[in-house]
Amino acid sequence: MKAYDFVVARDDLQQCKLIETQLPDAAALPSDALLVRVDRFAFTANNITYAVLGDQLKYWQLFPAPQGFGNIPVWGFGEVTASNHPGVAVGERLFGYFPMATHLVIEAAEVSKRALRDGAAHRQGVAPVYNAYARVTGDPAFAGRQGDHQALLRPLFMLSFLVDDHLAENEFYGAQRLLLSSASSKTAFGLAHLLQARADLKVIGLTSAANVDFVGSLGCYDEVVTYDRVTSLPSDSPVALVDMAGNSGLREKLHFHFGDQMKYSGRIGLTHRSSSPDEPELPGAKPKWFFAPDQIRKRAKEWGPGGVDKRFGAAWSDFAPTLDRRLKVIEGRGEGPVTQVYLDTLQGRIPPEQGHMLSLL
Ligand SMILES: NC(=O)c1ccc[n+]([C@@H]2O[C@H](COP(=O)([O-])OP(=O)(O)OC[C@H]3O[C@@H](n4cnc5c(N)ncnc54)[C@H](OP(=O)(O)O)[C@@H]3O)[C@@H](O)[C@H]2O)c1
Repeated sequence: MKAYDFVVARDDLQQCKLIETQLPDAAALPSDALLVRVDRFAFTANNITYAVLGDQLKYWQLFPAPQGFGNIPVWGFGEVTASNHPGVAVGERLFGYFPMATHLVIEAAEVSKRALRDGAAHRQGVAPVYNAYARVTGDPAFAGRQGDHQALLRPLFMLSFLVDDHLAENEFYGAQRLLLSSASSKTAFGLAHLLQARADLKVIGLTSAANVDFVGSLGCYDEVVTYDRVTSLPSDSPVALVDMAGNSGLREKLHFHFGDQMKYSGRIGLTHRSSSPDEPELPGAKPKWFFAPDQIRKRAKEWGPGGVDKRFGAAWSDFAPTLDRRLKVIEGRGEGPVTQVYLDTLQGRIPPEQGHMLSLL
């Protein structure tokens, strides 16, 4: 069997190609190594952000590619096809961070009943979550459509969960209205879903004209406003902005409109890929990046062992059943469909109700 990687030019994300790679010899794996066949992975705007920040946040170093190219990390499932680790059997199913590829060699470390870690030297220096694999063989929550939902949304929903928690902990910075940009994105509507359960808050989704109907249909926003109408919102009471779009022009417009009533301005995403490196000083709260690992560390200390997992698990259990009606899963297999979904996601051409599950096998 042959092995393939899907790689993109780091300095021009429009350029992408499938390359043939050497399939590692199962009989010659180093000790503790696993050969994993990458079965199925999700692809959303979040993966494009990994590419945009590939150098800055070290995403490119996780899955090496030829000079000038990068392999974009994706969340998905793999099956162990050869194992040189006594505690991991052939046939096991893993959920975690994979390359866009047919195969991955994992240097299994810290193998426990429910998880293991890739201890490869080149994968260190990033947040631990990117090297952790859940052992999900036979777990119905990670199989079939539920499994697709996990790959498409679970990592994003962790961010939604942490932002909701951070805002609640800070009493929403005194705001009763929350503005979420790129409201149609999975990360945003996961957050809107959580905020809906909080009393006395109004959750306002900001989106493009084409996505208004979808955002309205989600049922978790109190109001939907298109980007060209944001200045029609009343500016006489406090607001907090959670920014998934990362659009400098939009942020500037919002800050000047709300002025001192802008009590919080959290930068989360870059879906619009329209961030200017030199933004002017803006009125209201200073925009700052929300750094998820900081909130996890803080809560891990305060909530004790398993505390974050337990609360996140409860939130996910409430959110997951809503996904069947909110999302249409579309499968794509092979070079053509993978290339198409990659380029369409890059260009913002994927309708928000679609969730793409891909495979290069
Ligand atoms: N900081 C963190 O730790 C963290 C964690 C999770 C996610 N995020 C970020 O949150 C963002 C959302 O990710 P997601 O996977 O949830 O997104 P998604 O579901 O794929 O979002 C799709 C939406 O994003 C907007 N969009 C996407 N590509 C665009 C383009 N090329 N031009 C204009 N608009 C575009 C459109 O929304 P609108 O029309 O509504 O604008 C589109 O409906 C990403 O930037 C991701 O990296 C950050």
